[in-house]
Amino acid sequence: MSTISPTGARDLAAVFHPMTQISTLNEQGPMMIVRGEGIHVWDEEGKQYIDGLAGLWCTSLGYANEEIAAVAYEQIKTLSYGHLFLDKSHDTAMRLAEKLKEMVPCDFSKVFFGLSGSDANDTQIKLVRYYNNAIGRPRKKKIIARQKAYHGITFAAASATGLQPFHQGFDLPVAGFLHTDCPHHYRFAEPGESEEAFASRLADSLEALILREDPDTVAAFIAEPIMGAGGVLVPPATYFEKVQQVLRKYDVLFIADEVITGFGRTGQAFATQTFDLAPDTMSLAKSLTSAYMPLSAVMIPEFMYQAIAEISKEWGIFGHGFTYTGHPVSTAVGLKVLEIYERDNVFDNAARLGEQFQAHMARFADHPLVGEVRGRGLIGACELVANKATGQAFDPASAVGKYALARMKANGLICRAIGDSLALCPPLITSQDELGEIFTRYGKSLDETLEWVRREGLLAA
Ligand SMILES: Cc1ncc(COP(=O)(O)O)c(C=O)c1O
Repeated sequence: MSTISPTGARDLAAVFHPMTQISTLNEQGPMMIVRGEGIHVWDEEGKQYIDGLAGLWCTSLGYANEEIAAVAYEQIKTLSYGHLFLDKSHDTAMRLAEKLKEMVPCDFSKVFFGLSGSDANDTQIKLVRYYNNAIGRPRKKKIIARQKAYHGITFAAASATGLQPFHQGFDLPVAGFLHTDCPHHYRFAEPGESEEAFASRLADSLEALILREDPDTVAAFIAEPIMGAGGVLVPPATYFEKVQQVLRKYDVLFIADEVITGFGRTGQAFATQTFDLAPDTMSLAKSLTSAYMPLSAVMIPEFMYQAIAEISKEWGIFGHGFTYTGHPVSTAVGLKVLEIYERDNVFDNAARLGEQFQAHMARFADHPLVGEVRGRGLIGACELVANKATGQAFDPASAVGKYALARMKANGLICRAIGDSLALCPPLITSQDELGEIFTRYGKSLDETLEWVRREGLLAA
């Protein structure tokens, strides 16, 4: 018997669901969410869930914040729309750009606004091309990303993304995108290889790739400080230090994709600080507005801006920008969100809560199903394995992660299964009690999954 509700059926008849296995959705129907408040959401039957992934790693201040709603309402009454093309500008875009320059721990000159993490990364890639053309290096165009990276789904961003489902069927990646090794020590280190030795090997491999391609053709390296959609992969010790040395040696720009990690997620304001990065440019989105409005920002250094400004004498307009670049309601909301982060010490509180979060996570290291526990600050994942001693993965056909996810949902916790890794990324405003409740539900779901795995005989001998 179908369990699809009447609204679910209406939805299926009209909505094309993104990032979804459509055949399964058509059998099972969507989960209709009707309301959100704080860290909770409710479905159409009135069941309450903790939103353990902060929406899509983005609702840092939780749902239904009255102050943010009031700012959006006032902004709509004052100036509901304004753009930044040609000579136009407006107050909220200007002030948010100023605020971001002040807040971000690198010396950036200008802020380019978009609406999503994907368009921010597309802008980055177009800027790199434009810049190298402007300064007379037309061959220096290739972009290096990493296997398992997620940088979004627009043409260029999806080409940088290093996960197969985002390429399959789309004829991606397009030419000029290369993928170097994924820095996941647990899965890809040689037996007995330390994190440091693994990091050295990956930096050497990156250098070899650049040399093979010819350094004069390699323009930029794009990386998430912690790889989110790839499975919450935390870089091994010394990785970025060594990678950045290689990039500097061959004059390859470093684009930091802080779309998930920016704004307090990893225990500091930006993961650039957590991992001691010195990026040339940075992509921001998601928690920039705590997902109350769509907004992204590309942080641009002076040397790049100057080269682009100079060439405009010859080339005319810089032909890139969106109808909604710097949208007044999005930027007004962004300003309010950043004000709340500062006023309420949200990042410091998140850093303290992050320590408790990691301590809760660490307890699952003893769980018979868990091969690796990983994370930093308020983001983490447990990877479930068929053999704890060897790290042997489950057969993907057993869909163990999917089963665990269903148990979490039944237990009132929304999280994300990335293969058999179960990711958590709760709102930064989660209280200690709520955090305890998240892990009670998470642990119960893992135990229920273990019972099922044993019943089905899925553990490796
Ligand atoms: C690191 C990273 N970059 C870019 C994106 C793409 O952002 P959007 O979905 O807003 O286009 C995401 C989305 O999850 C992301 O995690």
